[in-house]
Amino acid sequence: MNKSFRLGILGSGRGSNFGAIAAALAKGSLSAEAAVVVSDISGAGILQLARELGIRHEFVEPGPFRTKLSEVAEAQFIQILQDARVDLVVLAGFMRVLKGPFLRAFEGRIVNIHPSLLPSFPGLEAWKQALDHGVKVTGCTVHFVDAGVDSGAIVGQRAVEVLEQDTAETLHQRIHAAEHELYPACLAKLATRGFSVKGRRVVWST
Ligand code: GAR
Repeated sequence: MNKSFRLGILGSGRGSNFGAIAAALAKGSLSAEAAVVVSDISGAGILQLARELGIRHEFVEPGPFRTKLSEVAEAQFIQILQDARVDLVVLAGFMRVLKGPFLRAFEGRIVNIHPSLLPSFPGLEAWKQALDHGVKVTGCTVHFVDAGVDSGAIVGQRAVEVLEQDTAETLHQRIHAAEHELYPACLAKLATRGFSVKGRRVVWST
């Protein structure tokens, strides 16, 4: 058991992955604590969910840019997460790129979930990219965050078959369902097992 493993969760959207993580925390399959939820969108579902669950939550005004945080905003994110003494930063649908200061503050301690089997289809609307490309199998990936786009070492993946009748919406729904299993399982492994990153490979100690 590792209830002292503290998660800082960042999201911009409805927060269904956070919901799955919170459910795993509640039932004990993920032995950790949700220390704080932080969002760049004041009306985000993820903040509403945190409120309902009685988990500390903060909105940070992101500044004028569309794809990144202002320097001030990024410093605020860092401060909130450090004050909450988080061991791992968990990006759960956080839609802005994090820059050098943030990456340095939590080096090797930031994970993200992405809706494709990386390294295929990094970037936005990965399920749509997969459908347009005509792949027969796609899925989702939990990976460490580095300075690139969806390019860090891979923690875990789950495959999802692309069906002939799929639309972007139906495929996205099944990928979402796979994410809800994969993310809590990967976090449970990170919380309880030693690991190291050798080159591009995440190697588990136990
Ligand atoms: C998830 O599908 C996640 O993979 C994606 O945003 C969605 C968030 O859903 N993230 C990215 O595309 C990151 N580049 P949620 O708010 O319901 O958890």
